[in-house]
Amino acid sequence: MPVAQLKPPEPVLWQDGELFLLDQTQLPLTTVTEKQETVEQVWDSIKQLKVRGAPAIGIAGAYGLVMAVKPQTQLPISEFLAELERQANYLDSARPTAVNLRWALTRIVKKAQALSHLPVPELQEALEQEAVQIHNEDRQLCRRIGEHGLPLIKGGMGVLTHCNAGALATSELGTALSPLYLAHERGIRFKVYADETRPLLQGARLTSWELQQSGIDVTLICDNMAAHMMSQGLIDLVIVGTDRVAANGDVANKIGTLGVAILAQYFQIPFYVACPYSTIDFATAEGQSIVIEERSEDEVTHFGLRRTAPPNISVRNPAFDVTPHTLVTGLITERGIIRPPYIENLQLSYSA
Ligand code: MRU
Repeated sequence: MPVAQLKPPEPVLWQDGELFLLDQTQLPLTTVTEKQETVEQVWDSIKQLKVRGAPAIGIAGAYGLVMAVKPQTQLPISEFLAELERQANYLDSARPTAVNLRWALTRIVKKAQALSHLPVPELQEALEQEAVQIHNEDRQLCRRIGEHGLPLIKGGMGVLTHCNAGALATSELGTALSPLYLAHERGIRFKVYADETRPLLQGARLTSWELQQSGIDVTLICDNMAAHMMSQGLIDLVIVGTDRVAANGDVANKIGTLGVAILAQYFQIPFYVACPYSTIDFATAEGQSIVIEERSEDEVTHFGLRRTAPPNISVRNPAFDVTPHTLVTGLITERGIIRPPYIENLQLSYSA
């Protein structure tokens, strides 16, 4: 029987030179897309997680940078380039962990440097095209990640995922969810378990919503239920996304991922991480050097708008953790699945 295939709204839209971002903080109950009027608004949308997910913040950042220097048509080229770099650093400061933001901003800055012989208005057009290209490439990368991950998905499987690495975090199919979308398209029947992902509930609000809309059999669980589900033999495979992969294969992803990886090893369940190459940071030797974003205490002391913790309680809120490469079965990338030893195999696939 054909299943309803409703697509979630696109997280980032560029229309006639204007940037629109889906406000993901309001999902799944309200679907609001906000026009971005200033670069400060784009910074704030990234900071507040209105747009979130490593690839999506890279794309939003690239468009935000194009927007930021749009009024500067009269600047001499050297000043234009200096302003571009200043705005790139500003946008990059919105969130530190996902390397895709820095990657996309650097790509725009390098494009400008390479085309600095052009008059500024022409250069601005070329930068806009580069941002559109980053966006389009992401659609293709996600599909290729899905194709490489597809053979891992077998009929009758239970697949666990953490946070949201789907359509809402990228441009189309997502990274971790891409193999699942393609398997579903081919009529393979499987079950997905989505961790709710405290404190901001990306699993509950976003992953379970986008999978449900696509007609995929999805069950929402609290984060602390993953061990129990595994112990009951309900999980055959874990696939998550990532915000930055170090050169040795260590993986930074949403807080709680490390716990899932440790559990997967205990229960001998394969643990895969899906990502485009732009998420691999060869300049970072190992995961311990990755800057982990620390977010507001309110996200922990409150559940939604309601305070659930005593006043003056001491709180920590790291938004990401690092899973050592020894717990990672494979990295599903647009160039295929990369397996240990990661230092050698990441380098080989990069230069191939
Ligand atoms: O804080 P978020 O919602 O931006 O965190 C997102 C994640 O951790 C995702 O798993 C990661 O960015 C991969 S998205 C394809």
